Amino acid sequence: MKVSVVGSGYVGTVTAACLAELGHQVICIDIDEERVNKINSGVSPIWEQGLDELIQNHAGGNLKATSDYESAVNDSDISFICVGTPSDDYGNIDLSIVKSASESLGYAIGSKDDYHVVVLKSTVVPETTENFVTPILEQASGKQAGKDFGVSMNPEFLREGKAVYDFMNPDRIVIGALDKHSGDVVSHLYDKVECLNEFIRTNPRTAEMIKYANNSFLATKISFSNEIGNICKKLDIDTYEVMKVVGMDFRISPYFLNSGAGFGGSCFPKDVRALTGKSKEIGYEPILLDSVIRVNENQPHRMIDLLEEKIGHLENKTITVLGLAFKNGTDDIRESRSVPVIADLLYNGAKIKAYDPQANGNMKKVFSSVNYCDSAEEALYNSEACLVMTDWNEFKNLDSEFGLMKNKVVVDGRRIIPFQNLEQEIDYVGICW
Ligand code: UDX
Repeated sequence: MKVSVVGSGYVGTVTAACLAELGHQVICIDIDEERVNKINSGVSPIWEQGLDELIQNHAGGNLKATSDYESAVNDSDISFICVGTPSDDYGNIDLSIVKSASESLGYAIGSKDDYHVVVLKSTVVPETTENFVTPILEQASGKQAGKDFGVSMNPEFLREGKAVYDFMNPDRIVIGALDKHSGDVVSHLYDKVECLNEFIRTNPRTAEMIKYANNSFLATKISFSNEIGNICKKLDIDTYEVMKVVGMDFRISPYFLNSGAGFGGSCFPKDVRALTGKSKEIGYEPILLDSVIRVNENQPHRMIDLLEEKIGHLENKTITVLGLAFKNGTDDIRESRSVPVIADLLYNGAKIKAYDPQANGNMKKVFSSVNYCDSAEEALYNSEACLVMTDWNEFKNLDSEFGLMKNKVVVDGRRIIPFQNLEQEIDYVGICW
């Protein structure tokens, strides 16, 4: 099939490259010429495991890129919208990029004779496909949705670092179609994909809600585990022992029960906030989801409280922050829990030495006054305490490095330091254990 993919960010590039791998002819559309040139020369515009290889293999063949909507739409049967849906200043979803992409697609569809399918993959709050995207497409094209062109919503469930694997090995594929024909067309795109469960065919607003309910539930599991962990800490109970057993209940499952500094990344915080915003807009106070965010926002401050309990005032003290990325395996610092921690430390007058195997460069753009180090060893040298913020595997091997600290206080926000087996004697504090 011939597919165009609007937006060459994280979701768009993964979608385009994987569809090319499945044998479809794919054209990426992006207004950023640099991204277009990169894809055409076989280079991925973003870092994601396995993606470089796919783009290298298919660029110039099954995979092309352009900034010209009209030629791409004319040359394809289906267009995916994979643009960003960031939070606005109030935490609500900002649909301005979806709007301009839909307008440009609409104009291109207007000058095309054949039936075309538009598929929204961007994460959008329920009703957006029907009440926001479709009217824009209709107005810009002068055509009627469901008759002259089709509209579907097809959410993604891709984890950063495992996105290519997740695309090729989905546990479910959800297609919310405005018109049955467009749903059938989207379904055929995935003919060669082995899906663990059945294809879910539904309406657009249900598809949109499935994505939010899914991410909000995972975020809820984490905040729940953090709350249980915070209670356990007061009672001198090891929450990891507790949650391990709780996770043995097949109705709960053992995943996303690790307590610590909280969840970050480009999805969970933004999606829970967008759903609470939508919920309030339609007159429902989301008590539980508001609390999920509150617990998550509180965890980094708990790290600072625990640190102050140990070493007192932070002013002019040198503190090491180990780990800046929102999780291991990425250089992404969006909504990373290390951001509020560094902000708190700076506010309290501490001097910060930080180390992350991948994310030093990105954090430097946010906090320029931090001393970024090339190794954990360098970051720990002469420091008066250390906060562990990311679950990088290499932190599991730290031991003698702690001996370089002036004062060996280690506050672990990820349960990654093997505190029970260390040779070096440290003053270890777990955030929830
Ligand atoms: C997530 C979803 O998993 C994916 O399906 C969705 O579409 C995009 O958002 P991602 O943001 O890549 O993926 O990260 P994920 O691996 O889910 O972790 C999110 C955050 O939760 C990380 O900060 C991680 O450290 C934290 N986390 C995860 C916990 O604190 N405890 C856990 O038990 C699991």
